[in-house]
Amino acid sequence: MKNIVILVSGSGSNLQRIIDTIDSGEIQKAKVSLVVADRDCYGLERAKKHNIPTALIPRGKNFSSELAKIIPENTDLIVLAGFLSILKPEFCENWVGKMINIHPALLPKFGGKGMWGHHVHNAVIEAKEKESGATVHFVTTGIDEGDVILQKSFKVTENDTPETVAEKVHLIEYEIFPIAINKVLSS
Ligand code: GRF
Repeated sequence: MKNIVILVSGSGSNLQRIIDTIDSGEIQKAKVSLVVADRDCYGLERAKKHNIPTALIPRGKNFSSELAKIIPENTDLIVLAGFLSILKPEFCENWVGKMINIHPALLPKFGGKGMWGHHVHNAVIEAKEKESGATVHFVTTGIDEGDVILQKSFKVTENDTPETVAEKVHLIEYEIFPIAINKVLSS
């Protein structure tokens, strides 16, 4: 059984998808052992509804060191699922190859500092991109720079807005996240 720790900052619909696909067996031989948030958010409620232990560490300069103290020793994988804080380099270096993130665009496009949530979708529409998508990648010390594990695109049409792009991205995320997690856990 592989133990996964999930970090969230928001609604946690990707967290929900991971919980559901563990229950359905789509993600194999895994368990969410802890959900950590950097702010009060609905993601924590979702975890509690499934009796998953939770922790809230307020965002700020001590986040990474506090997180390091509570991560269970038997953790196989840390998953950033809509997590908005930047983790300290020392923390990232300790988890190389064992920490992944989902990004709401086709990296390396629309990644880096400030590129999160609606900022990404606004930029995609403004740039008149013909496609967007989602990327699951390893976390390194560079923001959104780690190796890509899985990526999937969809067509952006003239009628799309940042809101419709966000909805389409979420659907792609729900599709690729469980596959990417299986891939990393079985490698
Ligand atoms: C996702 O689009 C993710 O890629 C981005 O933030 C969003 C989180 O959504 N980093 P949710 O909290 O999983 O619903």
